[in-house]
Formats: sequence, structure tokens, C-alpha cells
Amino acid sequence: MARTLIKNGTVVSPTGRHDQDVLIDGETIVALYARGQADAMGVTADKVIDAKGKYVVPGGIDVHTHMELPFGGTAAVDTFETGTIAAAWGGVTTIVDMALQRYNENVQLGLAEWHRKAGGNCAIDYAFHQIIGGIDEQALKDMTYLVDHEGVTSFKLFMAYPGVFYSDDGQILRAMQTAAENGAMIMMHAENGIAIDVLVQQYLARGQTDPKYHSYSRPSLLEGEATHRAIVLSKVAGNVPLYIVHMSASDALNEVAAAQHEGLNVFAETCPQYLYMTLEDHLARPGFEGAKFVCSPPIRSKHDHHHHHADLWKGLRMNQLAIISTDHCPFCMKDQKELGLGNFSKIPNGMGGVEHRMELIYQGVVQGEISLERWVETCATTPARMFGMYPQKGIIAPGSDADILVWDPTKKTKIGINDKHHMNMDHSSWEGFEVDGKVDTVLSRGMVVVENDSFKGRKGHGKYIKRSLSQYLH
Ligand code: URP
Ligand code: ZN
Ligand code: ZN
Repeated sequence: MARTLIKNGTVVSPTGRHDQDVLIDGETIVALYARGQADAMGVTADKVIDAKGKYVVPGGIDVHTHMELPFGGTAAVDTFETGTIAAAWGGVTTIVDMALQRYNENVQLGLAEWHRKAGGNCAIDYAFHQIIGGIDEQALKDMTYLVDHEGVTSFKLFMAYPGVFYSDDGQILRAMQTAAENGAMIMMHAENGIAIDVLVQQYLARGQTDPKYHSYSRPSLLEGEATHRAIVLSKVAGNVPLYIVHMSASDALNEVAAAQHEGLNVFAETCPQYLYMTLEDHLARPGFEGAKFVCSPPIRSKHDHHHHHADLWKGLRMNQLAIISTDHCPFCMKDQKELGLGNFSKIPNGMGGVEHRMELIYQGVVQGEISLERWVETCATTPARMFGMYPQKGIIAPGSDADILVWDPTKKTKIGINDKHHMNMDHSSWEGFEVDGKVDTVLSRGMVVVENDSFKGRKGHGKYIKRSLSQYLH
């Protein structure tokens, strides 16, 4: 088995940073040595990576991606191959993608289809949540089967998208009661889709069809309301673990903070787009360009009744927001986003970002929004713990998988279609962003997958990770 030694770097975990060398044997971290100790002990390795002046951090874990998702009359353009290669370029070593079941479909077949798409195609490790888009008696039984046998311990439900993935309150309560029995986590897309659909029709009827009306028709009040309702339903179901996905707004954050204050098992994530983008600067760009930034919940206005960006960063500092994911759901402008020319409600919802989360959130460290340790915690360690993969993933420690990102804080990263961009889209959602720091070297289970600005991994290296129940609670 090949041994790799990462020398002279600073190892970062949620609890601190230490000058340590990391010894890897095959796919596993086997030892950490205080600076100089490995040399003094005569430790040898087949490959030595010099990490002088660099941070050595657990590989990023993105717990919210949608590779190849059929949605909005088309399908997300990253395959498991292209999406996981892009992820590796961004220092990500595990994704948790959302397998799909829709109304009248079988959950186990939905999961099997996701295994078919991903199996043998991933460059990094992968796991699945299961979307339940049609809750019926069989789907409820299948949820427990997935928890007990398939390593799928979290289920995404939708209060948005009526007629597509939407569940009503009764269905949600039934699913939550099932989760209360089998220990699963309920993940919620919390927007009031019924009210939103009324507003959408009213905007369209007035001829207000541009991309920016996507945001106007989905006010943050309706994200706050749905978040509140989801929390109440989870309480009625017996304080079942609830995880609010892709939070965009202070209104929703306040509901989560209140629930946490009450001692409820309520968690939440946000995404880089909700920390950096605004309706005015992105969605409202001239012509149809704003379509690039159409996602749900929408990018919020900087003139709203809340300071969403500032509140979300604060929520990250206070652990009201535990995780940063990307909600990577990429569509090209050509033939995909263009479906909504003249009608914003037909623009496929989603943005691509799996490659850029570590870079964009490190910029939050540089700007003083969060600490270096919190960067690691929100992007790697808590994702592993929240979704039952710890300590196999999410930490640099003996016995853990050798999923490692060597990060160079002295360099810069310029994001853009002609700069750094490896996703399958015909544009970059993050065009023109230049951030401090750079992905230097990435290892996935001991294999170097990115080094010297080149991809050295291969499709098929990534393994399916069977997850246990959330380790935040068990
Ligand atoms: O706009 C989004 N978020 N697209 C992906 C599907 C979802 O709701 O997560
Ligand atoms: Zn969603
Ligand atoms: Zn999503």
C-alpha cells in the first residue's frame, strides 16, 4: 500500500490549527506528527507533499447537489462524472446528491436509478438523500427500508413547486411521523408554493415576465412562513430532526433560531449565492442575463426589510446555520434557461456551484465573517456529522479516510468561464469573482486527484458511502 506524507503544513479542524505532518497509508490517515517529529522518527513515504505555508484541511463535503436532476422541463447538465470532477477541482471529496422519487413513482426504484447514474462514474465519494415527491403508504414504508438497508437516512420534502415535488401539510406530517420512528432526518424546501403560484400568475398577467420577477413573486415572508410551519409540524411529530435546506432569508433564520432556543432538533444550511448575490446586482441584470441566477428560494434584494447577507453570516457564526452547501443544480443558458424567455416561471430553477464553495466561503474567512476553523466546520466536519459519515469523513485524524484539501492562502482564484470553471454549464454563475486562496492539492481516499493545476483522478474512483443516522443527535 502506498504511503503519502503531507509535510510542513498547518492542519485545521473545527477546534483549532496545529503544525502537523499527516501520514497516509493507502486510503486511510494513519498518524499525525508534531512538526519535526516525523523526520526525527525517520518516517518514510512513497510520496511526500510539501505543504509549507499551506492549510491542510478535511476535503469539503457538499451535502446538497443535484446531478442529472430532471427538472423544469429539462435536466441538470452535470453528470455524476463531470460534476464530481468539478467538485474535486474545488477541494470537495464527498457529495451527497438527491435521489428522486416523484408522485406515483416507487421510492426504491428512484434510488436504484440514482445508483445507476452514479455507479462507476464518480471521481470522488458520494452518498444519497432521497427526495420524496409523492408521499403515499408505500413511500412511507420505503423510507424505513432505505434507512435500515440502503444507508439513506435523510429525506427531502418540498413545500414549494405544486404539481411537481410538492407535499401538503398532511403528507409532510405523515413523513415526519415515519421519521420519528426510524430516526431519519427530514430536509425541507421551505417556501409556501401555493401562495407563490398565485403571485407568479399575477406578475405574469401584468406582463412582468423578466427574471427578476422570480424573486418578487417569492417573498422572504413566504420562506419564513413555511419554515415556521415545518418547525411546528416537526414538533407535532415528536421533535423529529428537521433540516431546512438552502436558506436565503432572515425571516426563515429567525424561525430556526427561535426553534433552537426552544430546544427543538432544528438545523439549517445556507449556500454561497445567498451570502454574496443580490436581486439588484444579479437577477435584475439587463435583458435575460438574470436567468443565470434564477434559483429557489430566490436571491434576495439588498433593499429588503432585512439585511439577509449580514444575518446569514451571523447565523453561521452563531451555529444557527450549521452547514454551507451549494444546492448545485446547473443549467446552460442555451436551450435550458432560455425556456423561460418571456416567462420567468419557465426558467429552470438552479445554479451551479459545486466547484466554488470552498473558495467562496474561504473569502468569508478573509473578510472576517467566520474563522478558519468555522470554514472547516461548516464545509466539512458538520456535514459529515449531520449526515452520518463521521469520523470516516470530515476530519483529519488517524482512522479517517484520507480525504484532504491542501489549501494555499497566498494565492488567488479567478472564477469564470475562461478562468477557473470545470462544470458542464455554458456560463459561470460566479463569473468575475476573484477570491483569496487557492486549491493546491486534493486527495480522495489517499489518491491525489488534483495537483499542479491538473486533474489526476479518474471516474469510478468514487465509492458509495452508506450513511448512518445523524450524529448530531445519536
Ligand atoms: O433552484 C433550485 N434550488 N433548484 C434545485 C431544486 C431545489 O429546490 O433544491
Ligand atoms: Zn429545494
Ligand atoms: Zn436543491
